[in-house]
Amino acid sequence: MSVKNIYEFPEGFLWGTSTSAYQIEGGISNDWSEWEKSEKRINELKKQGKNPSDFISGQACDSYHLYKKDFELAKNMNTNAIRFGIEWARVQPKKGEWDEKELEHYRNVFREAKRHGFDIVLTLWHWTSPLWVTYENGWENKETVKYYLAYVEKMVNEFGHFVDYWITLNEPMVPVSNGYLKGTFPPGEKCMFKARRVMNNLVRANNGAYEIIHQHYPDAMVSITVLWSYYEPANKFNFIDLFLVKIFNFFANQLFFNKIKKHFDFVAFDYYFHNRVVAYPPFIKNLNRKTNDLGWEIFPEGIYSVIKSLSIFKKPIIVMENGLADKQDKYRASFIVDHLLYIHKAIEEGADVRGYFHWSLLDNFEWAHGYAPKFGLYEVDYKTMERKPRKSVEVYSAICRDNRIEV
Ligand code: BGC
Repeated sequence: MSVKNIYEFPEGFLWGTSTSAYQIEGGISNDWSEWEKSEKRINELKKQGKNPSDFISGQACDSYHLYKKDFELAKNMNTNAIRFGIEWARVQPKKGEWDEKELEHYRNVFREAKRHGFDIVLTLWHWTSPLWVTYENGWENKETVKYYLAYVEKMVNEFGHFVDYWITLNEPMVPVSNGYLKGTFPPGEKCMFKARRVMNNLVRANNGAYEIIHQHYPDAMVSITVLWSYYEPANKFNFIDLFLVKIFNFFANQLFFNKIKKHFDFVAFDYYFHNRVVAYPPFIKNLNRKTNDLGWEIFPEGIYSVIKSLSIFKKPIIVMENGLADKQDKYRASFIVDHLLYIHKAIEEGADVRGYFHWSLLDNFEWAHGYAPKFGLYEVDYKTMERKPRKSVEVYSAICRDNRIEV
């Protein structure tokens, strides 16, 4: 006879999916769409033997027109919360001008989400900016902080009453490092001084946005999402490994958070990576027993350690992104269950985790990797825009419906 173990989640736990505007909406003109077409980018892709047209976001999933369908899919999975973004370039295509038609569009998006009863997590900035901002030197320019805050003020005035959780900036250190150190994101720079300037402007942007939202809604829940990876020493008795873990933790995980100490109400983290640290280059050597389609190691126990580290902030925690590129849906169901079991363990031990958002609802435009990686619970046919559930949808739907896992 087999015995079932049941793992209940706290009452009112948020079950959701995460998306971002640029990755799903389609038809957007901003700094990223320009970067995709730039000579620098195209030459680089050709050099790598890749076809540049696979790296053009274009119509994406056409969620701009199909958002009702997408919310329905999310609702059918029994999720009670949803995270989506507003595209700054749409609502403010020109400096100082608001596009009323686009504001109305987003108003309808919010209404539709509320019609389904979702708690709404709104991302205000998920790495993309209007072109007029880019032409003024983007986030390197301190003025951009002012522009961003004017945008935030407008969004709060227009849509504040719909929003349950605010994300001012998505994983700010990713565009800092990819855009200004590695050169793989726009503007394709490799300059430490610029990276530092951009980071500091993003800190100002978050802190200012936090104040604005709280002036309008004193009880608002505001945060950034942070990509918090799990670093562990390959040998826990080797003091160089241990020292390097500290360095990685400091720069990759903690640095931005330390700078916004009084300006977040909850911890929203994204967990994708485990890094086993060794004392010799390239300093990360994972065992990679199981990997996803991008070669990223699948390491569920890492999420438990991450939650433990984040508990020191003594604030509510939400898993704002967790997912994998898995076209054949080979691992997604077990990935979800295994990560949730570790989240449950952390909750049992006292961690205040309030929700889990799977990345992502749909296959979508995966930034520097283009369209090849398939992160969706739903598969998207980019020609017909048809959405088809992958098998793991059944598993996630049952968990969301029952607020528990049975193993
Ligand atoms: C980002 C998403 C991205 C996902 C998978 C997260 O860091 O917020 O935009 O698609 O990772 O790479």
